[in-house]
Amino acid sequence: MTRLSGITPSGRVQLGNYLGAIRHWAKGSGDDLYFVSDLHAMTTAYNPARLRSLTTEQLAVLIAAGIPADSVFVQSDLTRELGALTWLLECTCTYGEAGRMIQFKEKAGAKSGKGRTGARLSLLTYPVLMAADILLQGATEVPVGADQVQHVELARALARRFNATYGEVFPIPRAVLPPVAARVRDLSDPSRKMSKSTRDSVGVIFVLDEPDLIRRKIRRAVTDGATETISAEPGNPARAGVTNLVEILAACTASDPDGAVAGIGSYRQLKETVAEAVIETLRPVREGATTLLADPAELGRVRKTGAGRAAERGEHRLSAALRLAGAGQ
Ligand code: TYM
Repeated sequence: MTRLSGITPSGRVQLGNYLGAIRHWAKGSGDDLYFVSDLHAMTTAYNPARLRSLTTEQLAVLIAAGIPADSVFVQSDLTRELGALTWLLECTCTYGEAGRMIQFKEKAGAKSGKGRTGARLSLLTYPVLMAADILLQGATEVPVGADQVQHVELARALARRFNATYGEVFPIPRAVLPPVAARVRDLSDPSRKMSKSTRDSVGVIFVLDEPDLIRRKIRRAVTDGATETISAEPGNPARAGVTNLVEILAACTASDPDGAVAGIGSYRQLKETVAEAVIETLRPVREGATTLLADPAELGRVRKTGAGRAAERGEHRLSAALRLAGAGQ
């Protein structure tokens, strides 16, 4: 079993990334691979210098979260291998399949005026690059939050189709979801997921936020005036804010939602409890990442080792796929 997953440096790492994905990555075996998917951050307008610094920050967060340093790498260090495999998989994927991806519809549809035709072509093909990330390494399990499941399903479909058409080369991957916090919501607008690229960040807790800022953001979180029943009601949009806070607390204290709120009598107390639990959960990550970021030479070494390891692991599978598809020697 090989587990693999990635995070895109389109913004600073937020609590949802951590609770829904990263902290589960730290529990794997030495065979696993986790990476910063910087090429994926190029599908919408971005600043190259900021991308570079966010990539380094995310690499530091992955290591500080407890993922072994030799299991992490940066996607663009494998641009040649991934570029080649993406092409083979684009030749396996249909236009219709790519166009059905919810994230494409959301992001491309939001482009004002020009509509979808103004979106970068890479926004449409990005899930195919993601399939290449997964299939190059022969990953069988992909630990992700709920929003990435559809992309992993596409990787699964492409692996099956490629194997059936040209010959067996790719193991079939599957998405693995966390038991709680698979979709952490924005604190100020719980109708949407917490996201690193949200412009107005009052509802987003960043992993490297100082404790006081975390307290302030949670204090301002939206609840509901109708009732003071402290419980999670997934599926009830009117209670999405409270449900979100309860689920965050459950995720931070490794308990089930009902157990997590036992003894809590008011929303104010709930918020205070959630804030302290989040601060304690994130503290070691923030401290570890800050130390690592102060040593760029060490981070550079880690990056180089990880890239070498990932490239070596993928090499054989890429040449087999090219050969079976009738390309290469
Ligand atoms: P990204 O950077 O959007 O998110 C990284 C991980 O965090 C999860 N996540 C959340 N989980 C719970 N609540 C939230 N609010 C929340 N927001 C994000 C995501 O589900 C994800 O697991 N395309 C991917 C990165 C990627 C990848 C891959 C993943 C590139 N190649 C190959 C797996 C395999 C992405 O942009 O994730």
